[in-house]
Amino acid sequence: MTFYLVTQHSFSDPQPQEQAIMIDALRELLGPWYLYIKFVHVTFVMVWVFSTAHAYAYYVVPVFKAWRRNPEDEDVIELRDWVMERFDQGVIMEHVAYPIILITGPLLFIAGGWNSSSDWLMLKLAIVVLITLPIEILDYHLSHFGGAKANIRATGDKEAYEAGIHLHWYFLLYSSPVIMPAALLIVFLAITKFSF
Ligand code: HEM
Repeated sequence: MTFYLVTQHSFSDPQPQEQAIMIDALRELLGPWYLYIKFVHVTFVMVWVFSTAHAYAYYVVPVFKAWRRNPEDEDVIELRDWVMERFDQGVIMEHVAYPIILITGPLLFIAGGWNSSSDWLMLKLAIVVLITLPIEILDYHLSHFGGAKANIRATGDKEAYEAGIHLHWYFLLYSSPVIMPAALLIVFLAITKFSF
């Protein structure tokens, strides 16, 4: 049997029957850990949903509003830049939590024997993939990679820095009203197991 598997199929391209065997084995392995995996999943969901709420509502929004009212005020600009760079750091918690959710979710899916007949799960997955994933990818870029304000400041390019701040501000302005209800809807679906 092993000889057959090795000679007939590459491991990177498993056949449906082999896939079913692999998933069954994984389910047996993970089954006893279901509630522990769920604990990790839900804990990091809480971190993902709420870790930036306070900073966003009480630091980022007020300082940006102050800057919009006084666009030339050097003190306000300095405060805005400081808050934004701290926010880039603070959002690390959210961005560590997100991949952990994306790993533990499918583990629960396999361990619990869930399938596409669960409406709540399919809708939840659609929202995760179509709404949260693209927004988070952009957010990773703006906060930690090319768009990270500290990185741009280090280049000494003041225009690029200002453009980076503007871009991130518009990103927050347009993504927040989308991602906040989407996240709550995902949690609602997961908890109520709504069917329609
Ligand atoms: C932003 C992403 C996600 C959020 C906010 C989220 C939220 C939650 C919450 C709050 C629960 C707990 C439900 C309860 O205790 O009743 C849960 C459970 C679960 N999630 Fe996720 N989840 C996410 C991503 C995923 C992904 C990608 C999958 C992949 C299939 C997934 C699959 C599951 C499964 C199977 C359960 C177990 C339901 C149960 O045993 O009650 N989740 N999720």
